[in-house]
Amino acid sequence: MSETSSIAPGVDFAALTSAAREAMTRAYAPYSGYPVGAAALTEDGRTITGCNVENASYGVGLCAECALVGQLQLTGGGTLRAFTCVNADGDYITPCGRCRQLLYEFAGETLWIKTAAGITTIEGLLPEAFGPRDLENIA
Ligand code: THU
Repeated sequence: MSETSSIAPGVDFAALTSAAREAMTRAYAPYSGYPVGAAALTEDGRTITGCNVENASYGVGLCAECALVGQLQLTGGGTLRAFTCVNADGDYITPCGRCRQLLYEFAGETLWIKTAAGITTIEGLLPEAFGPRDLENIA
């Protein structure tokens, strides 16, 4: 089944959600018991995924989005057009604050994000963000 949206033209969020759910099954989350899967569509049409990878040193655990941006680079780089992430029930979750910043770094012209509340953009989740362009704007 494909589920394209008139809000985010050309983005099949049903396919992206399936990819995120599949990625979630690969998570390593023995400490929180909260596996997460993430999936994104790149501007050039690749689908990339990630899962969370925790650690006995709790604070160094990696969110699913960390693995996803690694996959982005490993598979050719570029920028993101759409993103979603899910929990163990397959339900949509919103990225944590740090991961919103990770996604912002690689956002294409518009980065559509599907959450339980509907479809938003990275600016909707991270208003007035600090990003790469700010580093150019110093005297
Ligand atoms: N987690 C993610 O992977 N992504 C998020 O955006 C939210 C939280 C993970 C981190 C930790 O392994 C588990 O979910 C519980 O917080």
